[in-house]
Amino acid sequence: NTRCLPVDPAHPETGLIQQAGVVLRQGGLVAFPTETVYGLGANALDARAVARIFVAKGRPRDNPLIVHLDSPGLLGRYIEEIPSVVPELAARFWPGPLTLVLRGGHAFPPEVTGGLGTVGVRVPGHPVALALIRAAGVPVAAPSANASGRPSPTTAGHVLEDLAGKIELVLDGGPTGVGVESTVLDLSGPRPVILRPGGVTRRDLEEVLGPVAVDPAVDGGAGPGDRPRSPGMKYTHYAPRAPLVLYAGPDHRQVAAGVLAEARRLAAGGRKVGILAYSETAPLYHGQGYTVVVAGKRSDPGTVAAVLYDSLRRFDRLGVDVILAEGMPPGGLGLAVMNRLYRAAGGHVVTINR
Ligand code: TXA
Ligand code: MG
Repeated sequence: NTRCLPVDPAHPETGLIQQAGVVLRQGGLVAFPTETVYGLGANALDARAVARIFVAKGRPRDNPLIVHLDSPGLLGRYIEEIPSVVPELAARFWPGPLTLVLRGGHAFPPEVTGGLGTVGVRVPGHPVALALIRAAGVPVAAPSANASGRPSPTTAGHVLEDLAGKIELVLDGGPTGVGVESTVLDLSGPRPVILRPGGVTRRDLEEVLGPVAVDPAVDGGAGPGDRPRSPGMKYTHYAPRAPLVLYAGPDHRQVAAGVLAEARRLAAGGRKVGILAYSETAPLYHGQGYTVVVAGKRSDPGTVAAVLYDSLRRFDRLGVDVILAEGMPPGGLGLAVMNRLYRAAGGHVVTINR
C-alpha cells in the first residue's frame, strides 16, 4: 500500500522528511517533487533498491537513471574525472534542471548506469528534493515517477495513477514548476552534446560553453523542415492512451487548417476527436464537437511546458479515440516540448510546410 503525505513545498516539515529518508535508507521507493517532474527515488548505492524502480515502472533495464545529489561539492566523491567546464556549469545551473553525463561513476551499481561507463548526475532545484536527499544521506537515483512510456508526472495524483500499490511513499508537494524534465548534456565525449532538451535551454548552455550540438534524435524531428527522422523517434514515450498525431510546420494557421480538416474527416467517421491546441489557436476549434485541451500559450513556451504532461493525461480522462496535436516553434523550451510531442506521436507526424 502506497502512503501519500502532503508536504510544504517551500519549507518541508523536518519530521516528515526524516521519515522519508529512513524509507530510502531501508531500500524503499519514495516519489518526490523536483522543479521539473516528480521523481521515483531509491538509494543509488543499493542495487536491490534500484532494481525495484525498474519493476515498479516497467522500465527497460538498459535505460540508465539520473543520480541526484544535494550539493555539487559531492561530485568529487563519486566521479573520478571531472571535466574542466563542470564547475562553471554547476555554479550557473545547479540546483536546477540540468543533468550532466560524465565518465566514471563506478561507485554506482550497473542498475544505475546501464553499465555504460558514464553516469548522469544533477542537483535538483526543489526544497523537498534537496531535503530528502540530505535526510537519506546517500545519492538518490530517480527516473520520472511514471509508468514507462506514459507522460511524466507533474502532480502527486499523476504518480498515484501510475504507481499506486507499487511504491512505499509519495511526498505530495503540489504541482511541479518547469513541467518537462531536465536537459541531459553529455560531457563524456570530445564535445558537449544535448541528448535530451529540457528545462535549461540550448541558448543558456551556449552562453557558458559556446556552440553545443544537439543529438540528431532530438531535433531531427523538432525543426520546421521535413528532415529525416531518427530511428529513436519511432520509440513511443510520454504517450497518452489514445493514438496521437502531431501536426508540425512553420505557419500555425496552416497547421490549424490541417488539424481541422483531419478532425472533420475523423468525426464524420464517428470518432471522438481530441485536439491539443494553444490559447491563440483554441478558438478555431471550438463549437464543433471536438474535445479541445488548451496547453498554454504557443508564444510563451514556458507556459506550454508547465502543463504539457497534464494536458496529455487529461485526454485519458476525457476518453477520446484519437488526439491531433498542434506543434509549436522549437525555440527556447519549445525544443523540449516538441521533442516530447514527437515521442508521444511515435512517428505519426504530419509536416505542413508550404
Ligand atoms: O528532470 C529530470 O531529469 C527527472 C527528475 C526526476 O530529476 N528525471 C528524469 O529521469 O527525467 P528519467 O529516467 O525519466 O530520464 C533520464 C534520461 C533518460 O533519457 C536516460 O536515457 C538519460 O537520462 N540518461 C541517464 N543516464 C545516462 C547516461 N549515463 N548516458 C546517457 N543518457 C543517460
Ligand atoms: Mg522518464
